[in-house]
Amino acid sequence: MINARLERLNDYPFQRLADLLKGNDPRSNDRPIMLHIGEPQHQPPDFAIDIIAGDRKRWNLYPPVVGTPGLRESCAGFLRRRYGVPASALDPHAQIAPVAGTREGLFMVALLAVTQSEGGPKPLALMPNPFYQVYFGAAAMAGAEPVFLPTSAASNWLPDLDAIPEETLRRTQVFYLCSPSNPQGTCADLAYWKKALELARRHDFMLVADECYCELYYTPAPPAGAIEAALALGPGPHGHVLDNLLVSHTLSKRSSAPGLRSGFVAGSPHAIAMLNRLRVYEAASTPLAVMDAAAALWDDDAHVEATRALYARKYEIAARLLGGRHGFYQPAGGFYLWLDVGDGEAATRALWSEAGIKVLPGAYLTKPAADGSNFGKPYVRIALVQELEATEIALTRMSQVLDRLGTSRA
Ligand SMILES: Cc1ncc(COP(=O)(O)O)c(C=O)c1O
Repeated sequence: MINARLERLNDYPFQRLADLLKGNDPRSNDRPIMLHIGEPQHQPPDFAIDIIAGDRKRWNLYPPVVGTPGLRESCAGFLRRRYGVPASALDPHAQIAPVAGTREGLFMVALLAVTQSEGGPKPLALMPNPFYQVYFGAAAMAGAEPVFLPTSAASNWLPDLDAIPEETLRRTQVFYLCSPSNPQGTCADLAYWKKALELARRHDFMLVADECYCELYYTPAPPAGAIEAALALGPGPHGHVLDNLLVSHTLSKRSSAPGLRSGFVAGSPHAIAMLNRLRVYEAASTPLAVMDAAAALWDDDAHVEATRALYARKYEIAARLLGGRHGFYQPAGGFYLWLDVGDGEAATRALWSEAGIKVLPGAYLTKPAADGSNFGKPYVRIALVQELEATEIALTRMSQVLDRLGTSRA
């Protein structure tokens, strides 16, 4: 009666965190501060909120699943400005699919890309380890076998593309890659994206570039995008420049608007047409007022610059309070700290009960190896999503607890 594939889905990390902290309430009266979830707490620009608040008329209409033309234009405008995509290479109305948050899009693309062949080997879905849970859930529900590719310092904490066996590549139907990565915050460069896309084209699988943190970077130049690799490589095996590639972007991080549930996927006209066909049945869409607000946010870069500067200041605070200890480093992008605290679950419990700071154990974002060892075990992930003052208070309390725990590593 119930789809057996659902048995393969673990509890989501935040459920596991709730279980870990059950009965372990903060002992002090200090205000609890939430740094466990990547949910930016900054106020999105008023102009977007005003658009939604001012919409009194259109609640009697089903919003189009494919988005409004204006929203698609604005998404394309962002890709043109951010990645120098020429207008001739991107038709907003054929190549952009607005989605109700990229979580939804990332889930649906597995259903788009994975085909079961009768009696053939099980299709594979590649993803980095650590990974965003939705990649795994989408692969499992689409009937693909997830393959977790290790990340290490030697490969800039991205999967080593040269180490993927040929046999694995032959069976791969979808490959999720995230840059800047969550949680380590490393960025793929253009050469890396090109290599990944070449593999996708050679073996005819879908490369899904999850670039939800692409606007939050702390390097002189913005991180390269997968779409730039496609432009550099030119048309693929099916005759289009975006063959074998879907890029995924969101307003949740860029515009601090996770509650808006608005993002988009861009790809070749055929892939986007098929994604739209699928999504019409699934029917997740956002209200028309939200689409208008989203269009205005994609059109504006000034608020994003301010947001980027704000995160940079939070990292300065983090460097001052945690620098030289607990494996602190300044990531190239994103908004996380990925600290080596010896035992991530023990540190998470102590931070909550002793300081009212909620963080996420690294092990909840990683897949254990066959021998049971878990590369994420020593880590905690800290989302720097609170306002400056709360961030400073949280990191001060955190450094005291971690120093007391004596887990200090340079
Ligand atoms: C790596 C990654 N991808 C995608 C998402 C989904 O973002 P949204 O559904 O809000 O667009 C998140 C959210 O935390 C994320 O961390």
